[in-house]
Amino acid sequence: MALQYKFPEGFWWGSATSATQIEGASEEGGKGQNIWDHWHRNEPNRFFEEVGPESTSDFYHLYKEDIGLMKEIGHNTFRLSISWSRLIPGGRGPVNPEAVTFYNNVINELMAQDIEPFITLYHFDMPLELQQEGGWESRSVVEAYAEFAGQCFRLFGDRVKKWFTFNEPIVPVEGGYLYDFHYPNIVDARRAVQVAYHTMMAHAKAVGTFRSAGITGGQIGIILNLTPSYPRSQHPADLKASHAADLFFNRSFLDPAVLGKYPDELVELLSEHGQLPHTEKGDQALLEAGIVDILGVNYYQPRRVKAKEHLPNPYGPFMPDWYFDNYEMPGRKMNPYRGWEIYEKGIYDIMVNLRDNYGNIQSYIAENGMGVQDESRFMENGEIQDDYRIEFISGHLKWLHRAIEEGCNVKGYHLWSFMDNWSWMNAYKNRYGFFSVDIDTKKRTPKKSAHWIKQVSEQNGFS
Ligand code: BG6
Repeated sequence: MALQYKFPEGFWWGSATSATQIEGASEEGGKGQNIWDHWHRNEPNRFFEEVGPESTSDFYHLYKEDIGLMKEIGHNTFRLSISWSRLIPGGRGPVNPEAVTFYNNVINELMAQDIEPFITLYHFDMPLELQQEGGWESRSVVEAYAEFAGQCFRLFGDRVKKWFTFNEPIVPVEGGYLYDFHYPNIVDARRAVQVAYHTMMAHAKAVGTFRSAGITGGQIGIILNLTPSYPRSQHPADLKASHAADLFFNRSFLDPAVLGKYPDELVELLSEHGQLPHTEKGDQALLEAGIVDILGVNYYQPRRVKAKEHLPNPYGPFMPDWYFDNYEMPGRKMNPYRGWEIYEKGIYDIMVNLRDNYGNIQSYIAENGMGVQDESRFMENGEIQDDYRIEFISGHLKWLHRAIEEGCNVKGYHLWSFMDNWSWMNAYKNRYGFFSVDIDTKKRTPKKSAHWIKQVSEQNGFS
Protein backbone atom coordinates (compact mmCIF):
# COMPACT_ATOMS: atom_id res chain seq x y z
CA MET A 1 0.00 0.00 0.00
CA ALA A 2 1.32 3.42 -0.93
CA LEU A 3 2.33 5.56 2.02
CA GLN A 4 0.27 8.65 2.64
CA TYR A 5 3.31 10.78 3.45
CA LYS A 6 6.17 9.67 1.26
CA PHE A 7 9.31 11.81 1.31
CA PRO A 8 11.67 12.48 -1.61
CA GLU A 9 14.35 9.90 -2.38
CA GLY A 10 17.45 10.38 -0.22
CA PHE A 11 15.62 12.40 2.46
CA TRP A 12 17.85 12.97 5.50
CA TRP A 13 16.56 11.19 8.58
CA GLY A 14 18.54 11.73 11.73
CA SER A 15 19.02 13.76 14.85
CA ALA A 16 21.06 16.60 16.29
CA THR A 17 23.26 17.03 19.33
CA SER A 18 25.99 19.32 20.60
CA ALA A 19 29.36 18.66 22.19
CA THR A 20 28.76 20.20 25.62
CA GLN A 21 25.38 18.49 25.86
CA ILE A 22 26.48 14.92 25.13
CA GLU A 23 30.25 14.41 25.35
CA GLY A 24 30.86 14.75 29.07
CA ALA A 25 34.55 14.11 29.88
CA SER A 26 34.79 17.85 30.36
CA GLU A 27 38.07 17.50 32.20
CA GLU A 28 39.45 14.60 30.23
CA GLY A 29 41.35 14.16 27.02
CA GLY A 30 43.18 17.46 27.32
CA LYS A 31 40.02 19.53 26.97
CA GLY A 32 40.21 23.19 28.02
CA GLN A 33 37.48 24.96 29.95
CA ASN A 34 34.51 26.61 28.32
CA ILE A 35 32.00 29.08 29.72
CA TRP A 36 29.64 26.29 30.85
CA ASP A 37 32.31 24.52 32.90
CA HIS A 38 33.18 27.85 34.47
CA TRP A 39 29.65 29.06 35.13
CA HIS A 40 28.56 25.78 36.67
CA ARG A 41 31.60 25.76 38.95
CA ASN A 42 30.79 29.26 40.15
CA GLU A 43 27.01 29.19 40.29
CA PRO A 44 25.79 25.57 40.40
CA ASN A 45 22.45 26.75 41.79
CA ARG A 46 21.60 28.21 38.38
CA PHE A 47 21.35 24.68 36.95
CA PHE A 48 18.44 22.27 37.43
CA GLU A 49 19.27 20.07 40.41
CA GLU A 50 22.77 21.57 40.16
CA VAL A 51 23.74 19.07 37.44
CA GLY A 52 26.65 20.42 35.40
CA PRO A 53 28.33 19.56 32.11
CA GLU A 54 31.11 17.37 33.51
CA SER A 55 29.74 13.98 32.49
CA THR A 56 26.44 14.58 30.60
CA SER A 57 25.58 11.52 28.47
CA ASP A 58 29.22 10.42 28.10
CA PHE A 59 29.28 10.22 24.32
CA TYR A 60 33.03 10.74 24.64
CA HIS A 61 33.35 7.16 25.83
CA LEU A 62 30.18 5.62 24.42
CA TYR A 63 30.19 7.04 20.88
CA LYS A 64 30.64 3.68 19.22
CA GLU A 65 27.66 2.13 20.93
CA ASP A 66 25.62 5.28 20.26
CA ILE A 67 26.42 5.29 16.57
CA GLY A 68 25.36 1.64 16.46
CA LEU A 69 22.02 2.67 17.97
CA MET A 70 21.64 5.45 15.40
CA LYS A 71 22.12 2.92 12.66
CA GLU A 72 19.65 0.64 14.37
CA ILE A 73 16.88 3.25 14.16
CA GLY A 74 17.51 4.15 10.53
CA HIS A 75 19.58 7.34 10.74
CA ASN A 76 21.32 8.24 7.48
CA THR A 77 22.64 11.56 8.82
CA PHE A 78 23.62 12.92 12.24
CA ARG A 79 24.67 16.36 13.50
CA LEU A 80 27.25 16.84 16.19
CA SER A 81 29.37 19.82 17.12
CA ILE A 82 33.08 20.10 17.63
CA SER A 83 34.00 21.49 21.02
CA TRP A 84 36.35 24.40 20.39
CA SER A 85 37.83 24.10 23.89
CA ARG A 86 38.47 20.39 23.34
CA LEU A 87 40.09 20.80 19.93
CA ILE A 88 42.08 23.91 20.81
CA PRO A 89 42.30 24.30 24.59
CA GLY A 90 42.33 28.00 25.39
CA GLY A 91 40.81 28.76 21.97
CA ARG A 92 44.07 29.62 20.17
CA GLY A 93 47.20 27.74 19.28
CA PRO A 94 48.00 24.10 18.59
CA VAL A 95 45.34 21.44 18.31
CA ASN A 96 44.93 18.84 21.03
CA PRO A 97 45.92 15.46 19.50
CA GLU A 98 43.55 13.53 21.78
CA ALA A 99 40.65 15.60 20.50
CA VAL A 100 41.70 15.00 16.91
CA THR A 101 41.72 11.28 17.58
CA PHE A 102 38.31 11.43 19.23
CA TYR A 103 36.62 13.38 16.43
CA ASN A 104 38.35 11.23 13.80
CA ASN A 105 37.05 8.12 15.52
CA VAL A 106 33.51 9.49 15.65
CA ILE A 107 33.53 10.60 12.01
CA ASN A 108 35.05 7.33 10.82
CA GLU A 109 32.56 5.29 12.80
CA LEU A 110 29.64 7.27 11.40
CA MET A 111 30.92 6.78 7.87
CA ALA A 112 31.49 3.07 8.47
CA GLN A 113 27.80 2.87 9.44
CA ASP A 114 26.74 4.89 6.37
CA ILE A 115 25.61 7.83 8.46
CA GLU A 116 26.68 11.16 7.02
CA PRO A 117 28.16 13.48 9.66
CA PHE A 118 26.93 17.08 9.72
CA ILE A 119 29.21 19.27 11.81
CA THR A 120 28.48 22.46 13.72
CA LEU A 121 31.48 24.58 14.65
CA TYR A 122 29.94 26.56 17.46
CA HIS A 123 27.06 25.50 19.67
CA PHE A 124 27.02 28.01 22.59
CA ASP A 125 30.42 26.89 23.95
CA MET A 126 32.99 29.70 24.07
CA PRO A 127 36.41 28.72 25.43
CA LEU A 128 36.76 30.42 28.80
CA GLU A 129 39.99 32.28 27.97
CA LEU A 130 38.37 33.85 24.92
CA GLN A 131 35.33 34.88 26.95
CA GLN A 132 37.72 36.56 29.35
CA GLU A 133 39.09 38.43 26.37
CA GLY A 134 35.59 39.75 25.68
CA GLY A 135 33.99 36.80 23.88
CA TRP A 136 32.03 37.82 20.79
CA GLU A 137 32.30 41.45 21.80
CA SER A 138 35.92 41.28 20.77
CA ARG A 139 37.01 41.36 17.15
CA SER A 140 40.12 39.33 18.00
CA VAL A 141 37.83 36.43 18.98
CA VAL A 142 36.32 36.62 15.49
CA GLU A 143 39.82 36.01 14.11
CA ALA A 144 40.44 33.16 16.55
CA TYR A 145 37.19 31.51 15.45
CA ALA A 146 38.16 31.74 11.77
CA GLU A 147 41.44 29.98 12.65
CA PHE A 148 39.57 27.28 14.56
CA ALA A 149 37.19 26.78 11.62
CA GLY A 150 40.16 26.50 9.25
CA GLN A 151 41.71 23.81 11.45
CA CYS A 152 38.47 21.84 11.40
CA PHE A 153 38.20 22.01 7.61
CA ARG A 154 41.83 20.88 7.28
CA LEU A 155 41.50 18.05 9.77
CA PHE A 156 38.12 16.65 8.84
CA GLY A 157 37.11 18.16 5.49
CA ASP A 158 38.31 15.13 3.56
CA ARG A 159 35.32 13.23 5.01
CA VAL A 160 32.85 15.80 6.34
CA LYS A 161 30.93 17.56 3.59
CA LYS A 162 28.20 19.41 5.51
CA TRP A 163 29.47 22.19 7.74
CA PHE A 164 27.52 24.66 9.85
CA THR A 165 29.23 27.70 11.31
CA PHE A 166 26.83 28.38 14.19
CA ASN A 167 23.87 26.81 15.89
CA GLU A 168 21.16 29.32 16.84
CA PRO A 169 23.54 32.28 17.05
CA ILE A 170 20.81 34.48 18.50
CA VAL A 171 20.52 32.36 21.64
CA PRO A 172 23.87 33.40 23.18
CA VAL A 173 22.89 37.00 22.36
CA GLU A 174 19.57 36.65 24.15
CA GLY A 175 20.85 34.45 26.95
CA GLY A 176 24.21 36.10 27.61
CA TYR A 177 23.46 39.77 26.93
CA LEU A 178 19.71 40.41 27.29
CA TYR A 179 17.76 37.92 29.38
CA ASP A 180 20.28 36.39 31.80
CA PHE A 181 20.15 32.68 30.96
CA HIS A 182 23.67 32.18 29.58
CA TYR A 183 27.05 33.29 30.86
CA PRO A 184 28.26 36.12 31.06
CA ASN A 185 24.81 37.21 32.30
CA ILE A 186 24.97 40.76 31.02
CA VAL A 187 21.86 42.85 30.34
CA ASP A 188 22.86 45.44 27.77
CA ALA A 189 21.30 45.68 24.31
CA ARG A 190 24.20 47.61 22.79
CA ARG A 191 26.61 44.86 23.78
CA ALA A 192 24.10 42.27 22.63
CA VAL A 193 24.01 43.89 19.20
CA GLN A 194 27.81 43.91 19.06
CA VAL A 195 27.88 40.21 19.93
CA ALA A 196 25.30 39.45 17.23
CA TYR A 197 27.22 41.47 14.67
CA HIS A 198 30.58 39.88 15.46
CA THR A 199 28.99 36.45 15.33
CA MET A 200 27.94 37.17 11.76
CA MET A 201 31.44 38.46 10.97
CA ALA A 202 32.89 35.25 12.39
CA HIS A 203 30.40 33.26 10.32
CA ALA A 204 31.35 35.14 7.14
CA LYS A 205 35.08 34.69 7.78
CA ALA A 206 34.58 30.96 8.30
CA VAL A 207 32.63 30.76 5.04
CA GLY A 208 35.54 32.50 3.30
CA THR A 209 38.01 30.03 4.82
CA PHE A 210 35.77 27.17 3.76
CA ARG A 211 35.59 28.40 0.17
CA SER A 212 39.37 28.67 -0.06
CA ALA A 213 39.82 25.24 1.54
CA GLY A 214 38.29 23.78 -1.64
CA ILE A 215 36.45 20.89 0.01
CA THR A 216 35.19 18.80 -2.89
CA GLY A 217 31.43 18.34 -2.71
CA GLY A 218 31.28 20.36 0.50
CA GLN A 219 28.54 22.75 1.57
CA ILE A 220 28.55 25.34 4.28
CA GLY A 221 25.58 26.71 6.15
CA ILE A 222 24.25 28.03 9.41
CA ILE A 223 21.56 26.72 11.73
CA LEU A 224 18.92 29.29 12.74
CA ASN A 225 16.02 28.97 15.13
CA LEU A 226 13.30 30.57 13.06
CA THR A 227 10.32 31.42 15.19
CA PRO A 228 7.50 32.84 13.11
CA SER A 229 5.92 35.89 14.77
CA TYR A 230 2.14 35.64 14.64
CA PRO A 231 0.16 38.80 15.48
CA ARG A 232 -2.81 38.60 17.86
CA SER A 233 -5.02 40.27 15.20
CA GLN A 234 -4.85 42.16 11.94
CA HIS A 235 -5.01 45.47 13.79
CA PRO A 236 -2.16 47.66 12.50
CA ALA A 237 -0.65 47.91 15.98
CA ASP A 238 -0.54 44.11 16.36
CA LEU A 239 0.90 43.76 12.87
CA LYS A 240 3.57 46.31 13.71
CA ALA A 241 4.44 44.36 16.84
CA SER A 242 4.87 41.10 14.92
CA HIS A 243 6.87 42.84 12.23
CA ALA A 244 9.30 44.20 14.85
CA ALA A 245 9.61 40.83 16.62
CA ASP A 246 10.38 39.23 13.27
CA LEU A 247 13.10 41.80 12.56
CA PHE A 248 14.76 41.28 15.93
CA PHE A 249 14.51 37.53 16.27
CA ASN A 250 14.43 36.10 12.74
CA ARG A 251 15.65 38.54 10.15
CA SER A 252 18.60 39.73 12.28
CA PHE A 253 20.43 36.54 11.26
CA LEU A 254 18.38 35.17 8.38
CA ASP A 255 18.84 38.18 6.10
CA PRO A 256 22.61 38.52 6.47
CA ALA A 257 23.14 34.75 6.22
CA VAL A 258 21.00 34.18 3.13
CA LEU A 259 20.84 37.59 1.45
CA GLY A 260 24.19 39.01 2.61
CA LYS A 261 22.64 42.15 4.04
CA TYR A 262 20.96 43.39 7.25
CA PRO A 263 17.37 44.62 6.85
CA ASP A 264 17.36 48.45 6.54
CA GLU A 265 14.47 48.68 8.96
CA LEU A 266 16.41 46.85 11.66
CA VAL A 267 19.38 49.13 11.19
CA GLU A 268 17.12 52.21 11.40
CA LEU A 269 15.41 50.93 14.49
CA LEU A 270 18.67 50.22 16.32
CA SER A 271 20.11 53.53 15.20
CA GLU A 272 17.08 55.38 16.59
CA HIS A 273 17.91 53.94 20.02
CA GLY A 274 21.68 54.42 19.75
CA GLN A 275 22.31 50.67 19.65
CA LEU A 276 24.33 50.23 16.47
CA PRO A 277 27.51 48.13 16.67
CA HIS A 278 31.07 49.10 15.77
CA THR A 279 31.80 48.06 12.22
CA GLU A 280 34.91 48.00 10.09
CA LYS A 281 35.59 48.95 6.51
CA GLY A 282 35.04 45.93 4.28
CA ASP A 283 32.45 44.31 6.57
CA GLN A 284 29.63 44.58 4.03
CA ALA A 285 31.69 42.82 1.36
CA LEU A 286 32.64 40.16 3.90
CA LEU A 287 28.98 39.59 4.73
CA GLU A 288 28.10 39.22 1.07
CA ALA A 289 30.83 36.64 0.64
CA GLY A 290 29.39 34.78 3.64
CA ILE A 291 26.11 33.81 1.96
CA VAL A 292 25.37 30.21 2.83
CA ASP A 293 24.81 27.17 0.59
CA ILE A 294 22.38 25.53 2.95
CA LEU A 295 20.23 26.56 5.90
CA GLY A 296 19.42 24.42 8.92
CA VAL A 297 16.14 25.38 10.54
CA ASN A 298 15.37 24.73 14.19
CA TYR A 299 11.70 24.95 14.99
CA TYR A 300 10.10 24.27 18.35
CA GLN A 301 7.39 26.86 18.87
CA PRO A 302 5.78 29.94 17.36
CA ARG A 303 6.05 33.43 18.81
CA ARG A 304 2.69 35.12 19.31
CA VAL A 305 2.74 38.82 19.90
CA LYS A 306 0.48 41.82 20.37
CA ALA A 307 0.87 45.58 20.59
CA LYS A 308 2.25 46.72 23.91
CA GLU A 309 -0.24 47.22 26.70
CA HIS A 310 1.93 49.82 28.44
CA LEU A 311 4.65 52.18 27.38
CA PRO A 312 8.09 50.82 28.30
CA ASN A 313 9.98 52.45 31.16
CA PRO A 314 12.12 55.04 29.34
CA TYR A 315 14.77 54.76 32.08
CA GLY A 316 15.05 50.96 31.82
CA PRO A 317 17.57 49.23 29.57
CA PHE A 318 16.53 49.12 25.91
CA MET A 319 15.01 45.76 24.97
CA PRO A 320 13.50 44.34 21.77
CA ASP A 321 10.40 43.91 23.93
CA TRP A 322 9.87 47.67 23.80
CA TYR A 323 8.12 46.86 20.53
CA PHE A 324 5.77 44.03 21.43
CA ASP A 325 4.18 42.04 24.24
CA ASN A 326 3.98 38.29 24.16
CA TYR A 327 0.47 37.07 23.50
CA GLU A 328 -0.98 34.00 25.16
CA MET A 329 -3.55 32.91 22.63
CA PRO A 330 -6.55 31.35 24.40
CA GLY A 331 -6.84 27.65 23.61
CA ARG A 332 -3.33 27.31 22.23
CA LYS A 333 -2.00 23.75 22.18
CA MET A 334 0.76 23.38 24.74
CA ASN A 335 3.60 21.11 25.62
CA PRO A 336 2.81 21.61 29.30
CA TYR A 337 6.10 20.06 30.40
CA ARG A 338 8.42 22.49 28.64
CA GLY A 339 5.87 25.31 28.62
CA TRP A 340 6.12 25.78 24.88
CA GLU A 341 3.22 26.06 22.44
CA ILE A 342 2.90 23.35 19.81
CA TYR A 343 1.92 24.75 16.44
CA GLU A 344 2.76 22.29 13.69
CA LYS A 345 1.82 24.58 10.83
CA GLY A 346 4.66 26.91 11.85
CA ILE A 347 7.11 24.56 10.14
CA TYR A 348 5.22 25.00 6.86
CA ASP A 349 5.00 28.79 7.21
CA ILE A 350 8.79 28.97 7.70
CA MET A 351 9.41 26.93 4.57
CA VAL A 352 6.99 28.95 2.45
CA ASN A 353 8.73 32.13 3.62
CA LEU A 354 12.11 30.68 2.61
CA ARG A 355 10.70 29.65 -0.75
CA ASP A 356 9.09 33.00 -1.50
CA ASN A 357 11.47 35.50 0.10
CA TYR A 358 14.84 33.77 0.37
CA GLY A 359 15.37 32.28 -3.07
CA ASN A 360 14.08 28.86 -1.98
CA ILE A 361 17.48 28.15 -0.47
CA GLN A 362 18.25 24.51 0.20
CA SER A 363 17.28 23.77 3.78
CA TYR A 364 16.48 21.04 6.26
CA ILE A 365 14.88 20.79 9.66
CA ALA A 366 17.96 20.72 11.85
CA GLU A 367 16.05 20.51 15.14
CA ASN A 368 12.48 19.90 16.17
CA GLY A 369 11.48 18.06 19.27
CA MET A 370 9.54 17.78 22.47
CA GLY A 371 11.11 18.06 25.91
CA VAL A 372 9.19 16.28 28.65
CA GLN A 373 9.87 16.27 32.37
CA ASP A 374 9.65 13.10 34.51
CA GLU A 375 9.25 10.84 31.51
CA SER A 376 9.70 7.76 33.64
CA ARG A 377 6.02 8.06 34.58
CA PHE A 378 5.24 6.88 31.04
CA MET A 379 7.31 3.72 31.50
CA GLU A 380 5.71 0.37 30.66
CA ASN A 381 7.67 -2.87 30.57
CA GLY A 382 10.92 -0.97 30.85
CA GLU A 383 10.28 1.37 27.89
CA ILE A 384 8.91 4.91 27.85
CA GLN A 385 5.68 5.02 25.87
CA ASP A 386 6.13 8.47 24.36
CA ASP A 387 3.07 8.53 22.12
CA TYR A 388 2.98 12.31 22.63
CA ARG A 389 6.41 12.57 20.91
CA ILE A 390 5.28 10.41 17.99
CA GLU A 391 2.24 12.64 17.63
CA PHE A 392 4.46 15.74 17.84
CA ILE A 393 6.89 14.51 15.18
CA SER A 394 4.26 13.18 12.80
CA GLY A 395 2.23 16.37 13.17
CA HIS A 396 5.23 18.40 12.04
CA LEU A 397 6.21 15.97 9.32
CA LYS A 398 2.76 16.20 7.73
CA TRP A 399 3.17 19.96 7.32
CA LEU A 400 6.74 19.53 6.11
CA HIS A 401 5.52 17.04 3.53
CA ARG A 402 2.98 19.56 2.31
CA ALA A 403 5.71 22.23 2.05
CA ILE A 404 7.78 19.88 -0.10
CA GLU A 405 4.79 19.12 -2.32
CA GLU A 406 4.37 22.85 -2.80
CA GLY A 407 7.93 23.25 -4.02
CA CYS A 408 9.88 24.08 -0.85
CA ASN A 409 13.49 22.98 -1.03
CA VAL A 410 13.64 20.88 2.17
CA LYS A 411 16.04 17.97 2.29
CA GLY A 412 15.64 16.36 5.68
CA TYR A 413 14.38 16.18 9.23
CA HIS A 414 16.51 15.85 12.36
CA LEU A 415 15.00 15.40 15.77
CA TRP A 416 16.38 17.07 18.85
CA SER A 417 17.69 14.69 19.99
CA PHE A 418 19.12 11.23 19.49
CA MET A 419 19.22 10.56 23.24
CA ASP A 420 18.36 12.50 26.38
CA ASN A 421 21.03 15.08 26.93
CA TRP A 422 22.15 17.93 29.14
CA SER A 423 20.16 21.04 28.29
CA TRP A 424 22.12 24.04 29.58
CA MET A 425 20.43 25.60 32.63
CA ASN A 426 17.71 22.95 32.48
CA ALA A 427 20.33 20.18 32.70
CA TYR A 428 18.39 16.88 32.55
CA LYS A 429 15.00 18.35 33.43
CA ASN A 430 13.35 17.95 30.03
CA ARG A 431 14.07 14.78 28.10
CA TYR A 432 14.16 14.91 24.32
CA GLY A 433 15.66 11.67 23.04
CA PHE A 434 14.60 8.66 21.01
CA PHE A 435 16.67 6.90 23.68
CA SER A 436 16.35 7.57 27.37
CA VAL A 437 19.57 7.90 29.34
CA ASP A 438 19.93 6.90 32.96
CA ILE A 439 22.16 9.71 34.16
CA ASP A 440 23.77 7.57 36.86
CA THR A 441 24.52 4.42 34.89
CA LYS A 442 24.48 6.04 31.39
CA LYS A 443 22.39 3.15 30.15
CA ARG A 444 20.50 3.90 26.91
CA THR A 445 17.00 2.46 26.41
CA PRO A 446 14.86 2.98 23.33
CA LYS A 447 11.56 4.78 23.77
CA LYS A 448 8.49 3.90 21.70
CA SER A 449 9.40 6.75 19.34
CA ALA A 450 12.73 5.04 18.54
CA HIS A 451 10.88 2.04 17.08
CA TRP A 452 8.50 4.34 15.26
CA ILE A 453 11.21 6.49 13.64
CA LYS A 454 13.05 3.37 12.54
CA GLN A 455 10.05 2.38 10.47
CA VAL A 456 9.49 5.90 9.15
CA SER A 457 13.15 6.28 8.10
CA GLU A 458 13.30 2.85 6.52
CA GLN A 459 10.08 3.37 4.54
CA ASN A 460 10.98 7.00 3.89
CA GLY A 461 7.55 8.07 5.08
CA PHE A 462 4.47 7.05 7.01
CA SER A 463 0.71 6.81 6.81
C1 BG6 B 1 17.88 24.44 20.91
C2 BG6 B 1 19.34 24.18 21.06
O1 BG6 B 1 17.68 25.73 21.34
O2 BG6 B 1 16.96 23.72 21.64
C3 BG6 B 1 19.69 22.98 21.93
O3 BG6 B 1 20.04 24.14 19.85
C4 BG6 B 1 18.68 22.86 23.06
O4 BG6 B 1 21.01 23.14 22.36
C5 BG6 B 1 17.31 22.62 22.44
O5 BG6 B 1 19.01 21.89 23.99
C6 BG6 B 1 16.18 22.38 23.43
O6 BG6 B 1 15.97 23.45 24.28
P1 BG6 B 1 16.10 23.29 25.85
O7 BG6 B 1 16.18 24.68 26.38
O8 BG6 B 1 14.87 22.60 26.33
O9 BG6 B 1 17.33 22.52 26.09
